[in-house]
Amino acid sequence: MRDLTPPRDSLDPIETASRDEIAALQLKRLKWSLQHAYDNVPFYRSKFDAAGVHPADLTSLKDLAKFPFTVKSDLRDNYPFGMFAVPRDQITRIHASSGTTGKPTVVGYTQGDIDMWANMVARSLRAAGTRPGDMLHNAYGYGLFTGGLGAHYGAEKLGCTVVPVSGGMTARQVTLIEDFQPTTIMVTPSYMLNILEEYHRQGVDPRNCSLEVGVFGAEPWTNQMRSEVEAAFDMHAVDIYGLSEVLGPGVASECVETKDGLHIWEDNFYPEIIDPQTGEVVEDGEMGELVFTTLTKEGMPIIRYRTRDLTRLLPGTARMMRRMEKVTGRSDDMIILRGVNVFPTQIEEQVLTVEGLAPHYQIELVRDGKMDAMRVHVESLPEHGDGEAQAVQAATLKHRIKQVVGVTAVVVVAKPGTVARSEGKATRVIDNRS
Ligand code: DLL
Repeated sequence: MRDLTPPRDSLDPIETASRDEIAALQLKRLKWSLQHAYDNVPFYRSKFDAAGVHPADLTSLKDLAKFPFTVKSDLRDNYPFGMFAVPRDQITRIHASSGTTGKPTVVGYTQGDIDMWANMVARSLRAAGTRPGDMLHNAYGYGLFTGGLGAHYGAEKLGCTVVPVSGGMTARQVTLIEDFQPTTIMVTPSYMLNILEEYHRQGVDPRNCSLEVGVFGAEPWTNQMRSEVEAAFDMHAVDIYGLSEVLGPGVASECVETKDGLHIWEDNFYPEIIDPQTGEVVEDGEMGELVFTTLTKEGMPIIRYRTRDLTRLLPGTARMMRRMEKVTGRSDDMIILRGVNVFPTQIEEQVLTVEGLAPHYQIELVRDGKMDAMRVHVESLPEHGDGEAQAVQAATLKHRIKQVVGVTAVVVVAKPGTVARSEGKATRVIDNRS
């Protein structure tokens, strides 16, 4: 793998600013954002009034803790455009969540927001080692999902040649990578595994492909998965984080020279970590729920949005801006098994340590009498698939899950190709308890 560290002089000035400069900019922008929300979104005005706080009460960054949280159902309650802070005709673009569970959540961007978003994705790509002039294969889904178009505009902004492939048609993904020779790919990590498998199916060696860096996000993935993908493609793999309510991809991103968690682009987003039970802000370094406030968004400012993502804040390394550790999981995805909290990423870590197992997995929750039970569905690699080998793989994985995660799981090792494959965000947990 080539060293892709970007030249220091190619960074935005704020990326190399001091902590004091960053904090001063944040305070100025935070005051603007609170006032903008209060003045232009009736939802925020009544929420702040009810909590007895006013934007003028914020005199330091810590004062933000006095303001009420915003949650996903607030967006649903104000469906479709009630959270917008500008007249509808100043909204350039709308995105929305899939809405598989109830009404979709709708978000809107002004032209200024679209430009800021493109800048944040361009910054993220530069941190990943992508340079102007590089070709970028974009396999995030295009449409109402923020992944495809968000990545696209940022890649163009950086000066890349963008191949807007979107998700799906996996055989064609491989053909296009082989024919066009892109050096960067943007895709969910689980779909990257699907593309890897297609390389093997076509008898093409992925280690010889043109890709030098993958910018993977939209779902949790582990450092073990990073090693797996980096070895398979002989490429760098870095993490990119974001969510529609706050922006889309490009809220935080990893630097290729350190790969030690995601630098939050703190000039536009103010992070807090709270105790999910009490709502109290915890110190940097402590695990909890990530909360974001936008500092510059015009179309739909968001104040103290509870992401449900669990992580912790760490000091800056490659950049001065603080890092968030790789997301462990969403609190909604947490499995409570006989009193033990389990995240799919903990299972992923163990699956990837067992020799002969493919990196695909799914967790099924079932009812075993009065108790919940967990079945982990995995499959053996094609050359490790005989009955005896599978029995060893199952026993090894069961043992490691018990030892490291602390729960008893039933491990089902199936034939290659049996576990459901993803073309976007993977479904890791199937709940068959009812
Ligand atoms: O998934 C935005 C995105 C697109 C990010 C492409 C990165 C790349 P939503 O569909 O609104 O937006 O889903 C947001 O996905 O709250 C997390 O739970 C999860 N998520 C996103 N990025 C990561 C990541 C996009 N790098 C939700 N690691 C978030 C872990 C992630 N989880």
